[in-house]
Amino acid sequence: MKKIGIMGGTFNPIHFGHLFLAEYAYDQLGLDMVLFMPSKNPPHKSRNEVLEDEYRAKMVELAISDNPHFQLSTLEMEREGTTYTVDTLRILTKENPHVSYYFLVGADSLFGMSKWKEPGTIFKLSTIVAVGRDQINYEKLEQEAEYLKETYGAKIIVLKMPMIQISSASIRERVLLNQSVRYYLPKNVLDYIKDKELYGIHALREKIRDILGEGRYLHSLGVEEVACDLAYIYGADEMKARIAGILHDSAKKLSDEELKNECIKYDIPISEGEKQCPQLLHSKVGAIYAKTKYGVQDEGILNAISYHTTGRPGMSLLEKIIFTADYIEPNRRPIPQLDEIRKLAYEDLDAAVCMILKSTLEYLTSKNTVIDSLTVETYKYYKDLLKSKTIKNPNN
Ligand SMILES: [Fe+2]
Ligand SMILES: [Fe+2]
Repeated sequence: MKKIGIMGGTFNPIHFGHLFLAEYAYDQLGLDMVLFMPSKNPPHKSRNEVLEDEYRAKMVELAISDNPHFQLSTLEMEREGTTYTVDTLRILTKENPHVSYYFLVGADSLFGMSKWKEPGTIFKLSTIVAVGRDQINYEKLEQEAEYLKETYGAKIIVLKMPMIQISSASIRERVLLNQSVRYYLPKNVLDYIKDKELYGIHALREKIRDILGEGRYLHSLGVEEVACDLAYIYGADEMKARIAGILHDSAKKLSDEELKNECIKYDIPISEGEKQCPQLLHSKVGAIYAKTKYGVQDEGILNAISYHTTGRPGMSLLEKIIFTADYIEPNRRPIPQLDEIRKLAYEDLDAAVCMILKSTLEYLTSKNTVIDSLTVETYKYYKDLLKSKTIKNPNN
């Protein structure tokens, strides 16, 4: 009987970790072939979260093109409705009764398999290959395998594999930040990513345009451009400034209620000022969205988004840049002292931050609206900082 391995995954994008694993299993288990089966986009996830099927399939096709015993299968992508592993195995075994299938899963997945749809049938129709990496608790894994063998008569192979520290998520973030992903994935896949502008800032801008609408999108673009200029002048990472700028208001469209609910969901503490004016929360929720929806893990970017409304004492350079860019970007409606602040931003960033805070506090006081205590604290911090700078350098 022919032995065929099945390797599922989102492959968003496929990388050397996937290819290494498939080749390792092919070799260790004496397989005749490995099928790469990209999963279909889950219906509850928008195209903002997972890349369209055709791109993911194409990248797999390119990645395996030079390996004769690797093959792409779009079986799951082509099926209507929810796709279950058991149905995939039914189709395959019906079409190819003289093949024994080896279903490759991450070791962690083995622990949840008894909750999959019709686990008994899955175990009957395939041999499960649980692929473990260095830090896995093999004793627990063997126990679970024993349990599944006894309960379902499952055929399970535990395959120990050398650790390869590459993840699709880290590739997506690195592409976005314009960092090198050479040696993370095959060159032809990387060329394709560049050619189609996948995962890059262009794709991010489109997503933000869809979510925010034209007016707010223009504001975000303005913040992006000004942030990039300021980063250039003050020596910050320009790409990080762009990403923080484009994403800083990504939660701006949410209602008060939605913002509060998101904070509860993600365990974000709500201050007294935020309770009274929930719109302030759009910065904290924006940081969460940057992480969960747009794949940004970089703490510096996340903090710049998180504090863009109130600021905070001792802000990082990037935080000050986004805080200032948000205030002075060219699409802003005219506000008192804007020209002066704009000029100052390119000469002394701390002084610009201080002036923005002062002007904001004066405006909020005149309107009799809620003032977050962090804004007051931040103003005091930068006022004192400027004072101490003047004492040190009296000629300035
Ligand atoms: Fe904002
Ligand atoms: Fe903004």
